[in-house]
Amino acid sequence: MFEEAQYFAPVETGADGSVVVQLASSHPGFADEVYRARRNAIAALALGYHEGDPIPHADYTDEEHQVWALVTRELAVKHRTYAIQEFLDAAERLDLPKDRIPQLEEVSELLRPLTGFRYLPAAGLVPLREFYGVLANGLFHSTQYIRHHSVPFYTPEPDVIHEVIGHGNTLASPRFAALYRLAGQAARRVESDEALEFVSKVFWFTMEFGVMRDRGELRAYGAGILSSYGEIEEFRGMDIRPLDLRAMGVQPYDITKYQDVLFAAESFDQLEDLVGDFWATCDDDMVFKIMA
Ligand SMILES: [Fe+2]
Repeated sequence: MFEEAQYFAPVETGADGSVVVQLASSHPGFADEVYRARRNAIAALALGYHEGDPIPHADYTDEEHQVWALVTRELAVKHRTYAIQEFLDAAERLDLPKDRIPQLEEVSELLRPLTGFRYLPAAGLVPLREFYGVLANGLFHSTQYIRHHSVPFYTPEPDVIHEVIGHGNTLASPRFAALYRLAGQAARRVESDEALEFVSKVFWFTMEFGVMRDRGELRAYGAGILSSYGEIEEFRGMDIRPLDLRAMGVQPYDITKYQDVLFAAESFDQLEDLVGDFWATCDDDMVFKIMA
C-alpha cells in the first residue's frame, strides 16, 4: 500500500455507530480526552456527510482559534520570503480569516469566484482513486480538525491548517487549480494501481512538496512545505533535483520526516509544460514507458 496511508490516524466506527479516531500514543493530543472527543465528533461529521450538502459546521475551542491565528501570522511572514509569487498573489485574493479557523464551507465560498474549487470533508484517509479523482470536478477532500494546541507549530498528520493555508491558498490560483484538475483527470484515466501511484507521487513532489526558481531564488509552492513552520526554513538545504517525471514518480519518501529530496521547476511554465501535459495525456502505457 502507498505510504500516504500512514499519514492519517485510523477512524473506526463501532457497532453502535460511535466514531473513534485512533490517535497514536505519540500524538500530542493522545492523553487529552477533551481533544479526543472533539476529534471523534469532527470525524463523525465527515462520515455522515452527503455530497451536495453544505459542509457541516465544526466546533473549535478558543485555544484552537488561537493556534490558527498564531500559525497564520508566523507563516505569512515566512511566505513573503519563501513562497513563490503566484502563491502570494492567490493568498491575497483569497484573504482567509486571520484570527479564527474558517469553516470549510466558508473557504469554498471564498474560492467559488476565483477558481470554483470546493471542499469535501474527510474523516481521515481517503482512498487514492477517490481523493485524486474528484479533483477533476474541482473538489478537494479536507480534514477539519486542527492540531493539538500544546504544540501549535507541529502536527503529525494533515490538519485544517495544512488543508486551508497550504492547499486553499494554492487553489485560489487559476493556474494551480488547473493543474489540480489535470491531476484528477489523470487519476481517473489510469487503470492500474501502479500507474495511479505514479500519478500520485508526481502530485506529492509537486503540489505537496514542490519548489521552483522564482524572483531569483529557490522558493516553495507545495502545500506541505508552505503549511509547515519548520520545513519552510529547511527546504533550501535539501537535495534539490531537476523536475523529472520518472524521478518523481519512483522516488521513495518518508512522510514522517522533512522531505529530503525535492524537485525544482525552473519556472511555472516548465511545471505546466512538463507536469501539466503529463497529467493531461497520461495513460497506463505512457506511465509504464516512463518507468521502464
Ligand atoms: Fe496535502
